Amino acid sequence: MSNIFVIKKKINNFYKKIIKVNGDKSLSIRWVLLSSLATGKSKAYNLLISEDVKASISAIKKLGIKVKILKNYCEIDGKGMDGYQYKNDMTIDAKNSGTLGRLLLGLLVNSDKKIKIIGDKSLSKRDFKRIADPLKKFGAKFTLTRKKNLPLNILGTRNLKPIKYFEKKGSAQCKSSVIFAALRTDGTTIIKAKKSRNHTEILCKYLKLPIKISNKKNFDIIKIKKAKSIKPFNYHIPSDISSAAFFIVLTILTRDSSMTIKNVNINSSRTGVIIILKKMGADIIFKNKRYYKGELIADIFVRGHKKLKAINCPAKLNSSSIDEFLLIFLVAAKANGVSYFKNLGELNQKESPRLKWGSKILNLIGIRNVLTNDSIKIFGNPNIEIKKKIVIKDFLKDHRIFMSSVIAALSFGGIWYIHDKYSPNTSFPNFLKILQSLRK
Ligand code: S3P
Repeated sequence: MSNIFVIKKKINNFYKKIIKVNGDKSLSIRWVLLSSLATGKSKAYNLLISEDVKASISAIKKLGIKVKILKNYCEIDGKGMDGYQYKNDMTIDAKNSGTLGRLLLGLLVNSDKKIKIIGDKSLSKRDFKRIADPLKKFGAKFTLTRKKNLPLNILGTRNLKPIKYFEKKGSAQCKSSVIFAALRTDGTTIIKAKKSRNHTEILCKYLKLPIKISNKKNFDIIKIKKAKSIKPFNYHIPSDISSAAFFIVLTILTRDSSMTIKNVNINSSRTGVIIILKKMGADIIFKNKRYYKGELIADIFVRGHKKLKAINCPAKLNSSSIDEFLLIFLVAAKANGVSYFKNLGELNQKESPRLKWGSKILNLIGIRNVLTNDSIKIFGNPNIEIKKKIVIKDFLKDHRIFMSSVIAALSFGGIWYIHDKYSPNTSFPNFLKILQSLRK
């Protein structure tokens, strides 16, 4: 069967839809890892069953934790804080998931056997030094390929020491991994963290774990002590704003259409994309806002728009929209004027070098842009209309490159051959199904 997704026609039909996208990836992985440490059975409803989350489930199963995936929920039978079974010659495959690879390392700092962590081609190119460095200070030992990549070996210690850690990149993965290691460590670990998504902290607070957070303007100070035990907990995973963003942008770029996306996590550490799109003139409303276990949830209503404005994007919004920039660049492509995005070097550290890919896609669709190592200037064209053939391939199966290309094809026209059509299974398995329902 062909692995190429072909799109020959843009979406020019009027639609008015209510949809539901898959569960939040960050929360799903965190629920799997934390419930594996709880004492007893936890259940998650609407857990994202995607490749990244399946890899997380396989990882904890390897560590001796029992997991059942039933029709309506997933059940994890945690064996307590010290319940992992470390065996000789263990290999854990994080596949494509940076979140799993990095967060899990935080939990493996007490292993008494050497554990090998491997990943797929994309993950094997990514930086693991950023997390090996702080975890070494707790006392764990690492050997990394080329001093920073997978495969890596970790050997933990029973004699963990608390650390002081300054997280400067705005990486929730680094921050969360250190929080997890601190939950295993006597004494107080202190983290000064540049703002990034805060689901780990919210879950720790909800679980009444020994964590204290003080929010400063640009940083958070997080103090964590050893957790004696975690009570099992049930969780209804809300939908993922990073998945919703594909349909939000499709609707913004599709005249006379509107959409409601139900039950989305709108935690303010994730809604940079909404702030940016609104600054560009998009019509987006949060309806039915409510709190769930410390997370803010809403239905998102969005309408197609004729006049989009360019933006000089404030860098302080980068972390809260880090997974949505490829989509934001598409809106900039249609906006009136020159948009500028800066301090975005982290985007090249993702599943593929996404800042470079953003520029490449814009070049292919005839949108002038100026790329540096960490910024991009986009010269928008409100009348953009593609007529030619466009091929998107060799993008390390980056799910967000695939899905953003599909949105570009449906919004701007042209004949597109987009390779690796199974790549959305990493984060958003229902992506193509929802799309089909819009074209009917
Ligand atoms: C994630 C954090 C982000 C994001 C990733 C998920 C998380 O990565 O890009 O998709 O769940 O913590 P960084 O923390 O490396 O920026």
